[in-house]
Amino acid sequence: MCGIVGFIGCKPAAPLLLEGLAKLEYRGYDSAGIALVENGQITIHKAKGRLSVLSDRIRGGDGIEATVGIGHTRWATHGKPSDENSHPHKSASGRFAVVHNGIIENYAALKKELQSDGVEFLSETDTEVIAHLIERSYTGDFLAAVRAAIQRLEGSYALGVLCAEHPDEFIAVRNASPLIVGLSEIGNFIASDIPAVLAHTRRVIPLADHEIVRLTRDAVTVFDQAGHPVEKKEMTVDWDVTSAEKGGYDHFMIKEIMEQPQALSATISPRIDADGGIVLDGIHLTASQLRKVNRLFIVACGSAYHAGVVGKYVIEKLARIPVEVDLASEFRYRDPIVDEKSLVIIVSQSGETADTLAALREAKRRGARVLSIVNVVGSTIASESDDVLYTWAGPEISVATTKAYSTQLTMLYLIAFYIAHKLGRIDDRDQRRLLSALIRLPDMVSGILRQAGELKQLAQRYAYLEHAYFIGRNLDYAVALEASLKLKEISYIHSEAYAAGELKHGTISLIEEGTFVVALACCEKLIEKTMSNIKEVKARGAEVLVLTTDDNRDVLPEADHVLYIPKTNDLLMPSLEVVPMQLLGYYIALARKCDIDKPRNLAKSVTVE
Ligand code: M6R
Repeated sequence: MCGIVGFIGCKPAAPLLLEGLAKLEYRGYDSAGIALVENGQITIHKAKGRLSVLSDRIRGGDGIEATVGIGHTRWATHGKPSDENSHPHKSASGRFAVVHNGIIENYAALKKELQSDGVEFLSETDTEVIAHLIERSYTGDFLAAVRAAIQRLEGSYALGVLCAEHPDEFIAVRNASPLIVGLSEIGNFIASDIPAVLAHTRRVIPLADHEIVRLTRDAVTVFDQAGHPVEKKEMTVDWDVTSAEKGGYDHFMIKEIMEQPQALSATISPRIDADGGIVLDGIHLTASQLRKVNRLFIVACGSAYHAGVVGKYVIEKLARIPVEVDLASEFRYRDPIVDEKSLVIIVSQSGETADTLAALREAKRRGARVLSIVNVVGSTIASESDDVLYTWAGPEISVATTKAYSTQLTMLYLIAFYIAHKLGRIDDRDQRRLLSALIRLPDMVSGILRQAGELKQLAQRYAYLEHAYFIGRNLDYAVALEASLKLKEISYIHSEAYAAGELKHGTISLIEEGTFVVALACCEKLIEKTMSNIKEVKARGAEVLVLTTDDNRDVLPEADHVLYIPKTNDLLMPSLEVVPMQLLGYYIALARKCDIDKPRNLAKSVTVE
């Protein structure tokens, strides 16, 4: 939520800041702004709306010569999207400018205090208090003023700060919101995420909480909370630059859907050794430690939570350990019965989701061991967990997750097989059988992706419906949750997922002539039951699209349309089922001319509660 960038070097900063912000727009896109130091003064350009509005207004930064600046793309928390509420925010004298990602929880008290000192506020944001606090602490030492100001702040913040009197440096701070430093030939950068600097460098320093960094044209110095310099390790990013580009596709979402076979292979292959055993590189749990675990929790938000629902079915089935799946925002406040005998699995693409991070901390506070499944290397959730398993999906830019969700599923499968085997609930033969099915998934997904044309055509038929219901049983229900979210978040069609057997306990009253129902019917042992539910909605006039496996070709005369996918082990079917559902959501949103990669009101990385 919100993206920040900063640059100081030997080239004009404005175009570089705009270029970096374009890569961070997935984090927020209701307004954007940049601040530059020019001739001993701070100049600010900001505008409500997409980055392109700002960029057009300043002609891409053409003719702006300043070589130091900071920038911001916003997802509104305090105050509606407007020019005034856009970042950067200046202090009263105009000496300081600040960009901020996060939330200042005590901003109301600080604002009151500053107002009683006569400070006039120009925006409704929490961020503006930071600029005024820095100004109030300033006696000529820029770094000291920033340090003094942040000591007053409660909440989360990644900050970039400019000072008109210090045109040869700028300062950045991180506390519970992501921030990296990029070191390049043309100068030094800060950014909320790596893609913002990737066009100029692969040399990156991830900052830890409470670290402050001073950037000049040729040096970067990191300080700890007490103000002592800290030795930081540089990291070399080995992504291909094009992995954060659209590469000829219309949207990141479709590109990322198409990348799933490679993402699955990259996540599965390194975890299977030459003897056909599982190597979970990031897990240090022994069999005897595992035997002491009496309950497992999977905690996450959104699609990662939906992956967790699949995980519950699979782990319980194979390992016979009770698994609770929790929404992180509920878990953190529900006084969960978690202790040192609990294993808590945290699932997150970004590794920065505020509720998920808080749930992780709550679990650790209660003595549980925390294993996280994360996509972003070095993210806060990864660094605070006892064990980390990375999903190697590569950068995911589209707000609607696809390849990250799919790789989360495969990681959960591997964990399920691993635990079940370690506990002796499955033998070597069972494990080999499951792994050989898992290894075949990338090819099977490639095959399903070749059906994209059929889904594109089908989407035309459903594009103008206003309601959709996704139904299924057991694992089909778990996938229905994700399929429904995928459709609603990018197409704005109202959509609900229901356990098929639950429909008649109330929701079936909404089914009438023409209501769109998608029935997932891949779970072999329950196919007859799901068929009965399909008949029930059909009898009430629903327009039914069924997703089922190839071997059910003759058993679904009730459906208006049937999509067939190949069959694999029942437990792994979700990895195949989700793919046509992602394509359906994508093509319906495309037909409705929605802004697919940047759906309204959303942001990729939800770093606020
Ligand atoms: O980065 P995380 O996996 O922790 O994010 C969790 C959710 O915010 C995310 O899955 C969200 O639901 C996506 N919009 C789904 O497409």
